[in-house]
Amino acid sequence: MAIRNIRVDDDPILRKKSREVTEFNDRLFELLDDMKETMYHSGGVGLAGPQVGVLKRVVVMDVSEDRNEFIELINPVITYEEGEQTGIEGCLSIPGLHGTVTRPNIVKVKAQNRDGKWCLYKGEELKARCFCHEIDHLDGILYKDKLDEGEQLYRNDGE
Ligand code: NI
Repeated sequence: MAIRNIRVDDDPILRKKSREVTEFNDRLFELLDDMKETMYHSGGVGLAGPQVGVLKRVVVMDVSEDRNEFIELINPVITYEEGEQTGIEGCLSIPGLHGTVTRPNIVKVKAQNRDGKWCLYKGEELKARCFCHEIDHLDGILYKDKLDEGEQLYRNDGE
């Protein structure tokens, strides 16, 4: 495994649409393993393909405090949304900044695993927010595009 370089700020790759994964091969597994290592190394709760410069529909996530609930999503699709939550988001590709975004409170996601098998996931609160944020990355959408009305990006004190 290796830590990959995270694309930041105005890197144009962050604005491109990622392609479906069709080949479940060693190259894909290496990408997923590297994304996992990169996410944990960076202290993020999620990371999407374009953030490491790869336009494939892949996401890794772990929203748990103990950092022991790793999931990887290949070709993820949101199939259900319920409710609403308003909270603060950040992104490894927008270092040092945060902003307030309203998202669904519950989402269900279907995605393939490494064997190509479709699996179902449900997320509430932070996990739902993270599913939405990461899947947006696959379509070139950043959370700063979705700030609540009247909100701006802000820099945390001490950062
Ligand atoms: Ni992000």
